[in-house]
Amino acid sequence: MTEMVIDMYHAFDTACAENIIKNEIKASVDEVNSRIDELLKSDDKDISRLIESMRYSALSSGKRIRPFLTRIVCKSLGAEPQKALDYACALELIHTYSLIHDDLPAMDNDDYRRGMPTNHRVFGEATAILAGDALLTYAFEIAASNKMLSQSENLKAVLILSTAAGTKGMIGGQQIDMSSQGKMLSLDELIRMHELKTGALIKAAVSLGVLAAGKADDKETADAYYKYASCIGLCFQIIDDILDVTASPIETGKSASDIENKKNTFTSAMPVEEAYDYAVKKTIEAIMAVNRTDSDGMLAAFATYLLMRQK
Ligand code: IPE
Ligand code: IPE
Ligand code: MG
Ligand code: MG
Ligand code: MG
Repeated sequence: MTEMVIDMYHAFDTACAENIIKNEIKASVDEVNSRIDELLKSDDKDISRLIESMRYSALSSGKRIRPFLTRIVCKSLGAEPQKALDYACALELIHTYSLIHDDLPAMDNDDYRRGMPTNHRVFGEATAILAGDALLTYAFEIAASNKMLSQSENLKAVLILSTAAGTKGMIGGQQIDMSSQGKMLSLDELIRMHELKTGALIKAAVSLGVLAAGKADDKETADAYYKYASCIGLCFQIIDDILDVTASPIETGKSASDIENKKNTFTSAMPVEEAYDYAVKKTIEAIMAVNRTDSDGMLAAFATYLLMRQK
């Protein structure tokens, strides 16, 4: 395990030293922002408030880690990442919708997101709900219309997105999150909740990259990438829980309401150090899973980057 940690830091150092990951992320964020901007243009005056609300959240400063994942997965399998861009944007819109709804008074009741007031604080609850609904449904339209891939691939992409967003994925996890407020979940239940509410969309990001690279039917590859995605997905929510108690809203760009709302988190279940050790273990498992195809170390570097993130 110690050797793996050293390898992991080495991969991260190398990628950072050469600014590889920084440049890749920047290029991906710019590309995603400009495509989302294009996709969310509308001159229908009757719904201008709805469009403004959708654009407010979708074009705010998210880290765009899910589209980035889709891109590097696709690239690591030797395909042109451009093919996966619309799938990646569709997923980012679903993620954005999940944040708008997560912040609503009936859910986490947060006022601050991506460094700005939450959507319902600016547009009111009704428009925030509709903006979330519209982003979700539009995502399927975007994925189904990807001109860079075939109809049969687009159908598979819609299936990946809808399964990940629904009861067997993000929404299922959000329901467990809400209905377990004030009750203590076991570690297994907590892991399941995190795998659903956050892990499912991260797995979808990876599956969309595998699909766009034409490798969805290559079982060995699909299984390895699934394992990578499961591990970094769980790790991502563990770090999110840790940052809630160790970083300030100025650093994370969002208000932290989980303690006040008596939510089950990794930091309510165990000390921060133990939660971090768990995240390290998952990151190592992730890196090992894709060792075979990660020729430039980008997948390893990104897993480590997510572990070490400060926002
Ligand atoms: C926040 O996701 C919600 C979780 C699933 C933990 P991100 O940390 O990816 O949020 P943005 O997109 O950068 O705002
Ligand atoms: C929510 O988890 C994950 C979603 C499905 C949106 P959190 O409630 O912990 O996300 P943040 O901390 O508000 O971003
Ligand atoms: Mg929440
Ligand atoms: Mg929340
Ligand atoms: Mg959180």
